[in-house]
Amino acid sequence: MPLNDLERELAEKSVWPAERLVKYLITDHETFLVKRLPRMKELAGQAEHKPLAQFLETLDTELKGHFRTEETIVFPVLVSLEHEDPGSLKQALQYACRHMEADHSMHERHLRLLAAFQHELEDELDRPEVLPLIHSLDDFARYMYLHMNIENRFLFEPYLSPGR
Ligand SMILES: [Fe+2]
Ligand SMILES: [Fe+2]
Repeated sequence: MPLNDLERELAEKSVWPAERLVKYLITDHETFLVKRLPRMKELAGQAEHKPLAQFLETLDTELKGHFRTEETIVFPVLVSLEHEDPGSLKQALQYACRHMEADHSMHERHLRLLAAFQHELEDELDRPEVLPLIHSLDDFARYMYLHMNIENRFLFEPYLSPGR
């Protein structure tokens, strides 16, 4: 996804109500776990890249846990309280949103590691199985950045800023 597409996607979603955002994000989780990650693993296997294949297993576990927390705990509460005073739930929500944001920082560190793998692979472009793998890593990182940006900026933000 080119950078201006990313900006356009973000601008479009900035006006979506929480319920619609959450539906979109849950579909996204499914796409990451059912489509993008398995595809990267398959291509890493074809390229016989063991360290990358192992790293992708770890990433899979990390994302499954994070997505599950969002879907079962954080998202439902955010949707139900969108236009309401969170009252006594405010502190718990602040804690949950900060926790999700901290997970995102960890995902970002891992995406930088994926970028390093990608960079290394660029020296092996004479092998036909390498280019599709590079594309799939690149795609995954772009969609993950978009996904995390949407969550941080449009969903968690009210509970992340101090004084709220
Ligand atoms: Fe998410
Ligand atoms: Fe997230």
